[in-house]
Amino acid sequence: MNNPRGIEKLYLIGLMGSGKSTVGNILAAAMGWTFLDIDHEIETFAGCDISSIFEEQGEDGFRDYESQILLQTADMDHAVISCGGGIVTRTENVEFLKDHFTIWLNVAPAEAAARLEHATDRPLLNECRDTLTKLNDLLHQREASYAESARVHVTSSGRTPEEVASKILKEIELSHD
Ligand code: S3P
Repeated sequence: MNNPRGIEKLYLIGLMGSGKSTVGNILAAAMGWTFLDIDHEIETFAGCDISSIFEEQGEDGFRDYESQILLQTADMDHAVISCGGGIVTRTENVEFLKDHFTIWLNVAPAEAAARLEHATDRPLLNECRDTLTKLNDLLHQREASYAESARVHVTSSGRTPEEVASKILKEIELSHD
């Protein structure tokens, strides 16, 4: 599959632990497209890791980088782009994502918490006491914006990344964009 239904690129959004990077890599390989991770691009651009950006410039500083890199993807073609879980916290990003083919990987917070049990590179989780409560809160705060930003919603709970990728490919085929 090269350019299904004239779609130039796909954006993946959803909570931390929803499988965006793993699924994105599988999709990109299946389609022969490039995979791009916005968090990774931010680290390259800033010259330090995400935890250091949060520590030195605060969450707002991180969100500035995030919005800037998202905008820079506008010219990309044949790419699967994985966005950080908080990308929808800025209205301008929601507006951008609504104009593109965006897919929400919806995961149950309990499953995301289990997947992130040993992760140390998520500042929002490092600074909280209880990962599950924090993920529940984040989903509650962001759910409406995820839904508004994405034209395709896929449940990633209880599915392998390969199953999620194949579900997305089917949804794209069905899409009448
Ligand atoms: C964040 C999610 C992370 C990363 C940062 C903030 C969030 O990305 O952007 O730690 O606010 O949910 P992933 O969703 O790829 O883990």
